[in-house]
This record gives sequence, structure tokens and C-alpha cells, in this order.
Amino acid sequence: MSNTIKRGGFSSSFGVLAATLGSAVGLGNIWKFPYLTGANGGAGFLLIYLLATLVIGLPVMIAEITMGRTAKANPITALQKLSPKKSLPWWLVGVAGMVAAFLILSFYSEVVAWVFAYVVKAIGGSILSSDRHVTESAFSTLISDPVQSLLWQWGVLAFIGGILLMGVTKGIEGITKKLMPVLFLLLMLLCAVSLSLDKAADGLAFLFRPDFSKISAGVILTAMGLAFFKLSLGMGTMMTYGSYFRDDQNIPATTLRVMLADLFVSMLAGIAIFPAVFTFGFEPAAGPALVFITIPAVFSQIPGGQLLMIAFFVLASVAATGAMLSLMEVPVVILHERLGMSRPKATLVTIATLMVLGSSCALTNSTLASFKLFGMNMFDLFDFASSNVLLPLGGILLAVFVGWVWGKDKFQQALSNQGALRNHVTVSAVFFLLRYVSPLLILAVMLKGLGLF
Ligand code: TRP
Repeated sequence: MSNTIKRGGFSSSFGVLAATLGSAVGLGNIWKFPYLTGANGGAGFLLIYLLATLVIGLPVMIAEITMGRTAKANPITALQKLSPKKSLPWWLVGVAGMVAAFLILSFYSEVVAWVFAYVVKAIGGSILSSDRHVTESAFSTLISDPVQSLLWQWGVLAFIGGILLMGVTKGIEGITKKLMPVLFLLLMLLCAVSLSLDKAADGLAFLFRPDFSKISAGVILTAMGLAFFKLSLGMGTMMTYGSYFRDDQNIPATTLRVMLADLFVSMLAGIAIFPAVFTFGFEPAAGPALVFITIPAVFSQIPGGQLLMIAFFVLASVAATGAMLSLMEVPVVILHERLGMSRPKATLVTIATLMVLGSSCALTNSTLASFKLFGMNMFDLFDFASSNVLLPLGGILLAVFVGWVWGKDKFQQALSNQGALRNHVTVSAVFFLLRYVSPLLILAVMLKGLGLF
């Protein structure tokens, strides 16, 4: 198939892994995973999240990457190319993905803004304390200041836009490849410190000993939503990255590695945080603030803690940047390839849109504190609507597309690299899940979780 617009791509196999992992690993691991686990009762939630990742996340991720690599195009064009003539307007799934990208980016960029601001606060040193009143008030002062919130968010958006202007290979691949390994190391150090704290055992018990009394339909939906969010699924990010994959890349193997590495980072974050929560008397269900109030307390326990804390927030910024790049890549490549904008122009339009839309999230703890829709502020609403509605819906449609429209033969061809890989059993298993299991399971969890049946 010929492409009219010359497309970038990932140059090496390691680069593919790093960039895909760079999309998956982000504030989802360091911020969302710990706070959702904390708020929903710990190990029981963790278990459901694991199941959702295996039974739903993995197959949908393989489906998206395979579709992207086969079509070598943005999600809208990819769905058009892959669907048979006169079939339903499947490309609308790509449009919905773009909407989801804007919603996610609106609140995600604000959390990234907090992380960037924490780099500066860490340098100042005032947040390094195991006194919960100190760390809690530092966080609430930041988020309730409208000017700071907005300026940090806009700064983040401008920064990410700058990287995207450098293009796919140099920008995304170059940066994520270098910095991901350092984040792993620092998180492991944090775990070691946290495990040496007084009440480490209580923290671990919370994280690993299931208590199913907290599990409700809503919690199951949240766990599934997290599985989608974590692996960047259901809105075309992985399809877009798949379109930059090399043709000889082993997709199932890469996907499995990304899933495992991503899980590993989340577990590290959990092990770093919960022992400290119990030792210093934080509230496990503190919500979005959890990481920002707990992590400084852990660092306050070690010599050189301030420097390490600076490093931590810098690396968290890096992880968040990789994830944000992948989110933004979706609207940018759609505007570029579908509307014929140049890449720089597409980037600028995306950033400008986010500066406006995202400000509704930046100001939720200040100016817009009392502005609510469906009983939620914009930050919570965008988060809820994306993770619990749009991403699962996208997941259902993509699974149905591969399982019932694209069909087993083409899927088999693509996933085995035109027969070069002997992975019949894997392909059949994934196809079975996509055709019969994932769509129904997602639908059931969604309807029940939203209270619709
Ligand atoms: N997976 C990223 C994280 O955990 C966030 C992310 C990046 C994302 N791209 C996405 C979430 C696409 C949903 C869809 O931080």
C-alpha cells in the first residue's frame, strides 16, 4: 500500500519496545495505580486489575498494534483501509479515539503539571518531611492556586509540543530510550527504603492480602478502566504506535514484555508508597493526592533524600512525558494525515485546543471548584468518561472489528509476520479472546459498573 505522506517510524527493535513502554508507563503507574488501589481496598482491587489486564488488556493491545502495523496509518485511515468495502463506518472509532485523547490529555497534563511543579518544590526543600500536615498542605496550596495550576499546565503543554515538533524517531524514541532505565533504578531504591520502615508489613498486607468486601460493580469497572488506561488502549494510541513498528517485530512478544514491565513499575510504586502510608499515618484512600503527600515522607527517611527526591520527580516527569507524547501523537497524526496540516501546524492546533480545554481541569480546585456536570468536576468527569466509558467502548469495538470484520486469516497473516513466526497457538488464543470473550466481558462490566443493568 502506498503512502502519500512520508511517515516516520521507530528505527530499532529496542526503540520499539522503549517507545511502547514509554507510552504505557507514566503517571498511570506512579499516580493512578497507587491511589486507585488505596481507595478501593488494596489487594482485591489489584487482583481484578491483573485479571482485566490479562484477559482484556493483552488481546486488545495485540489487536491495536497489529491493525496499526498492517495499515501503516493513523487510526481513522487504518480502520478505513482494513474494513471491507461497504461495511459500517468503523473509522468513527478513530474519531472517538481522538475525542478520548483530548479528554485524557486535559486532566493528564494537569497531573504532569503537579509533577513538574514538585521538581521545583523538591529543589526548594520545603516538602521533605514525614509530617503529614506539611506534605498535605504543600500539595493543597499548589492545586488550589489557579495561576500556578494554569501556568504549569501550559508550560507542560508547550514543552511536549516542542518535543513532538522534532518528529517521531528523534523526539519520541530518542528520549524515552535513554531515561526509562533510570526510573526503574530509582523506584527500586525507594522500595528498599520503604520496606525498612516500621509498619512496612501493614503496607504490604494491604497491597497483597485480598479483602473482597470492598469490591462492587463500580470497583470492577474502575479496575478494568485502569487496565485500559495503563496500557494506553482503546483510543488508537497503540494503533498509531503500531503503525511505526517494524515489519519483522514480534508483536505478541513485545506486547507481553511491555505488559510485564509496566506491571513491575506499578508494583514498585505500590511497594514504595503503602508501607509509608501506614508508617506515617497517611490515609490510603487519600485519592489523587496520595503520591504527592507520601513520596516526600519516604525520602525524608534517607540521607541525601532531597537530591533523590529531585531525581524522582524529574524521572516521573520523564515517564509522564513519554505517555503524554503518545497521547498527543493521535490527534497530531490525524490532523496531519487526514486534514493535510503540516506536522508543526497539527501540533500547534492540538496544543492550543488543550490549553483551552485543559484549563477546565487545571482550575477544578480553585476558580471552577463549584462547577459540576453529572455531579463531578471537570477533572473527575474527563477521567471517568475516558477510563470508564470511552476506552472500554473503544476496546469493545476494536475487538469486534478484529474478531468479526477483519477476520482470522488476515489477523493470522499479520500477527505471524506473513508466516515468518510460528505462533499459531498464540494467534488462535488471542483471536478467540477478541472474538468471544473480551467484547462481552467489557460490555458486561461496563453496563453493570455504570448501573445500567
Ligand atoms: N498509559 C499511560 C499511563 O499509564 C497513559 C496513556 C498514554 C494513555 N497513552 C494513553 C491512556 C492512551 C489511555 C490511552 O500513564
